Amino acid sequence: MTKTQAQRSQTELSVYLSEQVQAIDQVLDQWVPAESTDPTSIHKAMRYSLFAGGKRIRPILAIAAARAVSDAPNGVENAAATLELIHTYSLIHDDLPALDNDDLRRGRPTCHKVFGEAMAILAGDSLLTLAFEVLSRLPHVDAERKIRLVEELARASGTVGGMIGGQVNDIEGEKKPPTAFLLESIHRAKTGALLRASLRMGAIYAGATPEELAALSEFGERVGLAFQIIDDVLDVEESSEKLGKTAGKDAAQQKITFPAVYGLERSREMAEEERLAAHAALHSFDDRADRLRQIADFIVQRKT
Ligand code: IPE
Ligand code: IPE
Ligand code: MG
Ligand code: MG
Ligand code: MG
Repeated sequence: MTKTQAQRSQTELSVYLSEQVQAIDQVLDQWVPAESTDPTSIHKAMRYSLFAGGKRIRPILAIAAARAVSDAPNGVENAAATLELIHTYSLIHDDLPALDNDDLRRGRPTCHKVFGEAMAILAGDSLLTLAFEVLSRLPHVDAERKIRLVEELARASGTVGGMIGGQVNDIEGEKKPPTAFLLESIHRAKTGALLRASLRMGAIYAGATPEELAALSEFGERVGLAFQIIDDVLDVEESSEKLGKTAGKDAAQQKITFPAVYGLERSREMAEEERLAAHAALHSFDDRADRLRQIADFIVQRKT
Protein backbone atom coordinates (compact mmCIF):
# COMPACT_ATOMS: atom_id res chain seq x y z
CA MET A 1 0.00 0.00 0.00
CA THR A 2 1.44 3.40 -0.91
CA LYS A 3 1.36 6.06 1.72
CA THR A 4 -0.41 9.34 1.11
CA GLN A 5 1.43 12.64 1.50
CA ALA A 6 -0.46 13.27 4.76
CA GLN A 7 0.57 9.88 6.18
CA ARG A 8 4.19 10.51 5.21
CA SER A 9 4.29 13.89 6.92
CA GLN A 10 2.60 12.45 10.01
CA THR A 11 5.25 9.74 10.24
CA GLU A 12 7.96 12.33 9.70
CA LEU A 13 6.52 14.45 12.53
CA SER A 14 6.33 11.54 14.93
CA VAL A 15 9.98 10.66 14.21
CA TYR A 16 10.92 14.31 14.87
CA LEU A 17 8.89 14.39 18.10
CA SER A 18 10.44 11.21 19.45
CA GLU A 19 13.95 12.47 18.61
CA GLN A 20 13.19 15.68 20.48
CA VAL A 21 11.85 13.74 23.48
CA GLN A 22 15.13 11.80 23.59
CA ALA A 23 17.25 14.94 23.41
CA ILE A 24 15.23 16.61 26.18
CA ASP A 25 15.32 13.52 28.38
CA GLN A 26 19.08 13.38 28.02
CA VAL A 27 19.40 16.96 29.22
CA LEU A 28 16.96 16.38 32.09
CA ASP A 29 18.91 13.31 33.12
CA GLN A 30 22.06 15.41 33.37
CA TRP A 31 20.47 18.10 35.55
CA VAL A 32 18.45 15.97 37.95
CA PRO A 33 20.53 14.33 40.72
CA ALA A 34 20.90 10.54 40.41
CA GLU A 35 18.61 8.29 42.44
CA SER A 36 21.66 7.26 44.46
CA THR A 37 22.34 10.87 45.57
CA ASP A 38 21.38 11.62 49.18
CA PRO A 39 18.62 12.02 50.20
CA THR A 40 17.76 9.20 47.83
CA SER A 41 13.99 9.18 48.46
CA ILE A 42 13.44 12.65 46.99
CA HIS A 43 15.56 11.98 43.92
CA LYS A 44 13.68 8.73 43.30
CA ALA A 45 10.35 10.59 43.53
CA MET A 46 11.51 13.40 41.21
CA ARG A 47 12.79 10.95 38.62
CA TYR A 48 9.74 8.69 38.92
CA SER A 49 7.41 11.47 37.77
CA LEU A 50 9.78 13.15 35.36
CA PHE A 51 10.73 10.02 33.43
CA ALA A 52 7.27 8.45 33.30
CA GLY A 53 6.68 9.42 29.67
CA GLY A 54 5.00 12.71 28.82
CA LYS A 55 4.83 14.41 25.46
CA ARG A 56 7.46 17.08 26.35
CA ILE A 57 5.40 19.49 24.28
CA ARG A 58 6.56 22.61 26.14
CA PRO A 59 10.31 22.06 25.63
CA ILE A 60 9.67 20.93 22.06
CA LEU A 61 7.83 24.19 21.40
CA ALA A 62 10.68 26.19 22.93
CA ILE A 63 13.26 24.47 20.73
CA ALA A 64 11.11 24.88 17.62
CA ALA A 65 10.58 28.59 18.41
CA ALA A 66 14.33 29.09 18.78
CA ARG A 67 14.90 27.36 15.43
CA ALA A 68 12.27 29.57 13.80
CA VAL A 69 14.35 32.58 14.84
CA SER A 70 17.91 31.35 14.33
CA ASP A 71 19.62 28.39 12.66
CA ALA A 72 21.83 27.30 15.53
CA PRO A 73 20.62 28.31 18.98
CA ASN A 74 23.38 26.35 20.75
CA GLY A 75 22.30 24.70 24.03
CA VAL A 76 18.64 25.71 23.84
CA GLU A 77 17.65 22.22 25.13
CA ASN A 78 18.85 23.23 28.60
CA ALA A 79 16.55 26.24 28.78
CA ALA A 80 13.73 24.20 27.22
CA ALA A 81 14.10 21.47 29.84
CA THR A 82 13.26 23.95 32.62
CA LEU A 83 9.72 24.16 31.22
CA GLU A 84 9.37 20.41 31.71
CA LEU A 85 10.65 20.66 35.29
CA ILE A 86 7.97 23.23 36.09
CA HIS A 87 5.30 21.31 34.18
CA THR A 88 6.05 18.01 35.96
CA TYR A 89 5.99 19.79 39.34
CA SER A 90 2.59 21.23 38.43
CA LEU A 91 1.28 17.77 37.53
CA ILE A 92 2.53 16.17 40.78
CA HIS A 93 0.79 18.90 42.78
CA ASP A 94 -2.32 18.87 40.53
CA ASP A 95 -2.78 15.17 41.38
CA LEU A 96 -2.50 15.59 45.17
CA PRO A 97 -5.56 14.69 47.27
CA ALA A 98 -6.02 18.38 48.14
CA LEU A 99 -6.22 19.31 44.45
CA ASP A 100 -7.58 16.88 41.82
CA ASN A 101 -6.97 13.76 43.91
CA ASP A 102 -5.82 11.57 41.04
CA ASP A 103 -4.36 8.05 41.19
CA LEU A 104 -3.03 7.75 37.64
CA ARG A 105 -0.57 9.94 35.74
CA ARG A 106 1.50 9.23 32.63
CA GLY A 107 0.28 5.64 32.79
CA ARG A 108 1.56 5.06 36.33
CA PRO A 109 0.26 5.50 39.87
CA THR A 110 0.65 9.16 40.86
CA CYS A 111 3.70 10.35 42.79
CA HIS A 112 1.87 10.59 46.14
CA LYS A 113 0.42 7.08 45.70
CA VAL A 114 3.93 5.64 45.44
CA PHE A 115 6.01 7.93 47.68
CA GLY A 116 3.40 9.40 50.03
CA GLU A 117 2.02 12.92 50.14
CA ALA A 118 4.93 14.53 51.96
CA MET A 119 7.48 13.27 49.44
CA ALA A 120 5.23 14.19 46.48
CA ILE A 121 4.87 17.77 47.76
CA LEU A 122 8.64 17.95 48.20
CA ALA A 123 9.32 16.37 44.79
CA GLY A 124 7.18 19.09 43.21
CA ASP A 125 8.98 21.77 45.23
CA SER A 126 12.36 20.43 44.21
CA LEU A 127 11.59 20.27 40.48
CA LEU A 128 10.38 23.88 40.72
CA THR A 129 13.55 24.96 42.50
CA LEU A 130 15.80 23.03 40.13
CA ALA A 131 14.26 24.79 37.12
CA PHE A 132 15.62 28.13 38.31
CA GLU A 133 18.98 26.66 39.27
CA VAL A 134 19.31 25.36 35.70
CA LEU A 135 18.43 28.77 34.23
CA SER A 136 21.01 30.46 36.45
CA ARG A 137 23.68 28.01 35.29
CA LEU A 138 22.88 27.92 31.55
CA PRO A 139 26.03 27.50 29.50
CA HIS A 140 26.66 29.91 26.57
CA VAL A 141 24.12 32.49 27.80
CA ASP A 142 24.92 35.98 29.08
CA ALA A 143 23.56 37.20 32.41
CA GLU A 144 21.02 39.60 30.94
CA ARG A 145 19.43 36.90 28.81
CA LYS A 146 19.36 34.50 31.75
CA ILE A 147 17.42 37.08 33.77
CA ARG A 148 14.88 37.51 30.98
CA LEU A 149 14.40 33.72 30.86
CA VAL A 150 13.99 33.57 34.65
CA GLU A 151 11.37 36.31 34.51
CA GLU A 152 9.41 34.54 31.75
CA LEU A 153 9.33 31.22 33.58
CA ALA A 154 8.55 32.75 36.98
CA ARG A 155 5.72 34.94 35.73
CA ALA A 156 4.14 32.15 33.69
CA SER A 157 4.23 29.87 36.74
CA GLY A 158 2.98 32.52 39.13
CA THR A 159 -0.25 33.77 40.66
CA VAL A 160 -1.16 36.70 38.38
CA GLY A 161 -2.34 35.24 35.08
CA GLY A 162 0.07 32.32 35.53
CA MET A 163 -0.19 28.61 36.24
CA ILE A 164 -0.77 28.85 40.00
CA GLY A 165 -3.35 31.61 39.58
CA GLY A 166 -5.17 29.38 37.09
CA GLN A 167 -5.02 26.39 39.42
CA VAL A 168 -6.53 28.53 42.21
CA ASN A 169 -9.41 29.57 39.97
CA ASP A 170 -9.81 25.98 38.74
CA ILE A 171 -10.12 24.64 42.30
CA GLU A 172 -12.34 27.49 43.50
CA GLY A 173 -14.43 27.11 40.34
CA GLU A 174 -15.52 23.56 41.23
CA LYS A 175 -19.27 23.56 41.69
CA LYS A 176 -19.55 27.21 40.59
CA PRO A 177 -21.74 27.85 37.53
CA PRO A 178 -19.47 27.38 34.49
CA THR A 179 -19.41 30.78 32.79
CA ALA A 180 -17.54 31.49 29.56
CA PHE A 181 -15.60 34.31 31.24
CA LEU A 182 -14.35 32.19 34.14
CA LEU A 183 -13.55 29.33 31.77
CA GLU A 184 -11.31 31.36 29.52
CA SER A 185 -9.45 33.02 32.38
CA ILE A 186 -8.80 29.64 34.05
CA HIS A 187 -7.52 28.02 30.87
CA ARG A 188 -5.37 30.92 29.72
CA ALA A 189 -3.68 30.95 33.10
CA LYS A 190 -3.40 27.34 34.25
CA THR A 191 -2.12 25.97 30.93
CA GLY A 192 -1.87 28.79 28.41
CA ALA A 193 0.68 30.84 30.32
CA LEU A 194 3.32 28.11 30.40
CA LEU A 195 2.77 27.22 26.75
CA ARG A 196 3.09 30.87 25.78
CA ALA A 197 6.26 31.08 27.89
CA SER A 198 7.64 28.07 26.02
CA LEU A 199 7.51 30.02 22.76
CA ARG A 200 8.81 33.19 24.38
CA MET A 201 11.72 31.47 26.10
CA GLY A 202 12.80 29.77 22.89
CA ALA A 203 12.54 33.10 21.06
CA ILE A 204 14.45 35.05 23.73
CA TYR A 205 17.14 32.37 23.86
CA ALA A 206 17.65 32.69 20.11
CA GLY A 207 17.77 36.50 20.20
CA ALA A 208 14.38 37.27 18.61
CA THR A 209 13.54 40.81 17.52
CA PRO A 210 10.58 42.46 19.34
CA GLU A 211 8.38 41.73 16.29
CA GLU A 212 9.38 38.05 16.22
CA LEU A 213 8.79 37.78 19.97
CA ALA A 214 5.32 39.34 19.67
CA ALA A 215 4.34 36.97 16.85
CA LEU A 216 5.59 33.90 18.72
CA SER A 217 3.77 35.06 21.87
CA GLU A 218 0.53 35.31 19.92
CA PHE A 219 1.16 31.85 18.46
CA GLY A 220 1.82 30.57 22.01
CA GLU A 221 -1.41 32.05 23.36
CA ARG A 222 -3.40 30.44 20.57
CA VAL A 223 -1.86 26.97 20.88
CA GLY A 224 -1.98 27.27 24.68
CA LEU A 225 -5.73 27.75 24.68
CA ALA A 226 -6.20 25.06 22.02
CA PHE A 227 -4.10 22.68 24.11
CA GLN A 228 -6.35 22.95 27.17
CA ILE A 229 -9.57 22.85 25.10
CA ILE A 230 -8.37 19.52 23.67
CA ASP A 231 -7.28 18.30 27.14
CA ASP A 232 -10.87 18.92 28.30
CA VAL A 233 -12.33 17.21 25.21
CA LEU A 234 -10.10 14.14 25.61
CA ASP A 235 -11.11 13.89 29.28
CA VAL A 236 -14.66 13.28 27.98
CA GLU A 237 -13.94 11.25 24.84
CA GLU A 238 -11.00 8.98 25.64
CA SER A 239 -10.35 6.15 28.10
CA SER A 240 -8.06 6.29 31.14
CA GLU A 241 -5.94 3.60 29.52
CA LYS A 242 -5.39 5.67 26.40
CA LEU A 243 -4.77 8.91 28.28
CA GLY A 244 -2.58 7.42 31.02
CA LYS A 245 -4.62 9.51 33.47
CA THR A 246 -8.14 9.19 34.86
CA ALA A 247 -10.72 10.01 32.18
CA GLY A 248 -14.08 11.56 33.05
CA LYS A 249 -12.62 13.35 36.08
CA ASP A 250 -13.69 16.85 35.08
CA ALA A 251 -17.41 16.09 35.02
CA ALA A 252 -17.13 14.05 38.24
CA GLN A 253 -15.47 17.03 39.97
CA GLN A 254 -17.74 19.60 38.32
CA LYS A 255 -14.81 21.41 36.74
CA ILE A 256 -15.31 24.44 34.54
CA THR A 257 -14.30 23.05 31.14
CA PHE A 258 -14.93 23.81 27.46
CA PRO A 259 -17.25 20.81 27.00
CA ALA A 260 -19.19 21.86 30.14
CA VAL A 261 -19.75 25.38 28.79
CA TYR A 262 -19.96 24.84 25.02
CA GLY A 263 -20.47 21.10 24.42
CA LEU A 264 -18.03 18.81 22.60
CA GLU A 265 -18.73 19.85 19.04
CA ARG A 266 -18.37 23.59 19.62
CA SER A 267 -15.29 22.98 21.79
CA ARG A 268 -13.57 21.19 18.90
CA GLU A 269 -14.56 24.02 16.55
CA MET A 270 -13.07 26.54 18.96
CA ALA A 271 -9.82 24.57 19.17
CA GLU A 272 -9.73 24.59 15.36
CA GLU A 273 -10.26 28.38 15.34
CA GLU A 274 -7.29 28.77 17.68
CA ARG A 275 -5.19 26.49 15.44
CA LEU A 276 -5.94 28.67 12.42
CA ALA A 277 -5.20 31.83 14.38
CA ALA A 278 -1.91 30.27 15.51
CA HIS A 279 -0.95 29.67 11.88
CA ALA A 280 -1.91 33.25 11.01
CA ALA A 281 0.35 34.57 13.78
CA LEU A 282 3.33 33.04 11.98
CA HIS A 283 2.63 34.71 8.63
CA SER A 284 5.89 36.67 8.58
CA PHE A 285 8.03 33.57 9.28
CA ASP A 286 9.52 31.46 6.49
CA ASP A 287 9.73 27.67 6.37
CA ARG A 288 11.97 27.64 9.44
CA ALA A 289 8.70 27.95 11.39
CA ASP A 290 7.19 24.85 9.71
CA ARG A 291 7.81 22.71 12.79
CA LEU A 292 5.76 25.15 14.84
CA ARG A 293 2.98 24.99 12.26
CA GLN A 294 3.04 21.17 12.39
CA ILE A 295 3.03 21.16 16.20
CA ALA A 296 -0.01 23.46 16.26
CA ASP A 297 -1.81 20.89 14.09
CA PHE A 298 -0.60 18.05 16.31
CA ILE A 299 -1.90 19.80 19.45
CA VAL A 300 -5.42 19.90 18.03
CA GLN A 301 -5.38 16.47 16.38
CA ARG A 302 -3.72 14.52 19.23
CA LYS A 303 -5.50 11.64 20.98
CA THR A 304 -3.51 11.68 24.22
C1 IPE B 1 -1.46 17.76 30.99
O1 IPE B 1 -0.39 18.20 30.22
C2 IPE B 1 -1.92 18.85 31.91
C3 IPE B 1 -2.29 20.08 31.25
C4 IPE B 1 -1.73 21.21 31.54
C5 IPE B 1 -3.35 20.10 30.27
P1 IPE B 1 0.22 17.31 29.06
O2 IPE B 1 -0.89 16.79 28.20
O3 IPE B 1 1.30 18.09 28.40
O4 IPE B 1 0.83 16.09 29.87
P2 IPE B 1 2.14 15.21 29.58
O5 IPE B 1 3.30 16.07 29.94
O6 IPE B 1 2.13 14.80 28.15
O7 IPE B 1 2.00 14.05 30.53
C1 IPE C 1 -3.88 20.88 35.00
O1 IPE C 1 -5.10 20.86 34.38
C2 IPE C 1 -3.14 22.08 34.67
C3 IPE C 1 -1.90 22.15 35.47
C4 IPE C 1 -1.40 23.30 35.76
C5 IPE C 1 -1.21 20.96 35.95
P1 IPE C 1 -5.87 19.47 34.51
O2 IPE C 1 -6.20 19.17 35.93
O3 IPE C 1 -6.98 19.47 33.53
O4 IPE C 1 -4.74 18.46 34.02
P2 IPE C 1 -4.93 16.89 33.95
O5 IPE C 1 -6.14 16.65 33.08
O6 IPE C 1 -5.10 16.41 35.35
O7 IPE C 1 -3.67 16.43 33.29
MG1 MG D 1 -6.45 20.23 37.70
MG1 MG E 1 -5.92 17.25 36.99
MG1 MG F 1 -7.51 17.84 32.25
